[in-house]
Amino acid sequence: MKILILGVNGFIGSNLSKRLVNKKVKIFGFDKSNFNIIGLKNSNNFHFIKGDIFKSQKIIYKLIKKCDVVVPLIAIATPNVYVKDPIKIFNLDFESNLEILKICSKFKKRVILPSTSEVYGKNKEKLFDEYTSDLVLGPINKHRWIYSCSKQLLDRYALALSEKNKIKLTIFRPFNWIGPNLDTLESAQVGNGRVLTIFINNIIRNKNIYLVNNGKQSRSFTYIDDGIDALERIIFGNKNKLNGRIYNIGNPNNNLSIRNLAKKIIKIYNDISLNSYNKKIINISEAKFYGKAYQDIKIRVPSIIRAKRELKWFPKTNLNDALFKTVSSYIVN
Ligand code: UGA
Repeated sequence: MKILILGVNGFIGSNLSKRLVNKKVKIFGFDKSNFNIIGLKNSNNFHFIKGDIFKSQKIIYKLIKKCDVVVPLIAIATPNVYVKDPIKIFNLDFESNLEILKICSKFKKRVILPSTSEVYGKNKEKLFDEYTSDLVLGPINKHRWIYSCSKQLLDRYALALSEKNKIKLTIFRPFNWIGPNLDTLESAQVGNGRVLTIFINNIIRNKNIYLVNNGKQSRSFTYIDDGIDALERIIFGNKNKLNGRIYNIGNPNNNLSIRNLAKKIIKIYNDISLNSYNKKIINISEAKFYGKAYQDIKIRVPSIIRAKRELKWFPKTNLNDALFKTVSSYIVN
């Protein structure tokens, strides 16, 4: 099987490649940089292609044509950018991935499409279900929703393509996956990270931690290895049975408030680092922290009944282990 991973240096792409390199597959990995996958350089079944998605249309076209499975992972997934540069999200996350889907449909390829937990938006249900939950977004001037909306439209278009037999499709929805390589601390420092890497960066640099809206909102944190287990099951699963299916890939048992997240990672840091954290946790409004175009999501817990039943998958890593492994991967003593 020839598999094309677009965005191979990213969080999911790099961790997926490290897993697949030991399997009977040939991996073609495309990205503009390769600092997360240096170790794969000498593997016979891994081929890195350096390029910028906006300038490499011909190369991408040829790669899609020659591969059996396409995993298009190129996207910005940090809320700060949604609100500061929504056009960039539209251009990269939506338009460039739309082009990729069109090429995949031309050659009738199998696509493993990354959706997002964000598509459920402000839905207040206790558990989000792929086939029954409404997708609830805020007004247009709240740019936070452009990512959710872009992903939703790609999901809808891809599903329509699969129903017309133009592609074989499986959609997966990561719920706050965490682990090594989540974001670089340099990008977290300028706010372009996710909450965990922003907090880790603040703690390592001994700076105050800011809790948006008192940190009462919660997320279900899922360890990357569990997420990759699910992807493996999809990739090597029956492409006809899995065609047109959508799966939440998250860990409902690891649901935690952002305030408690901050406390837990400070404790982990103080336990394993030679330094100790002694700054403050400060409450801040969402408008002050992100700007007026932001709206938060209060609760986000996946139903994983379908992934359990159809993929025989369930997450194995508990919250403490997931946080410990992630935090320690960023600490150099
Ligand atoms: C994330 C991102 O949109 C994507 O990474 C992804 O598609 C999806 O959710 C996912 O990983 O499932 P969100 O969980 O809201 O969205 O983003 P984070 O940046 O991780 O923030 C989580 C919460 O922490 C938010 O309520 C945010 O307001 C809060 N936060 C963030 C703080 O309290 N302080 C900070 O310094 C940063």
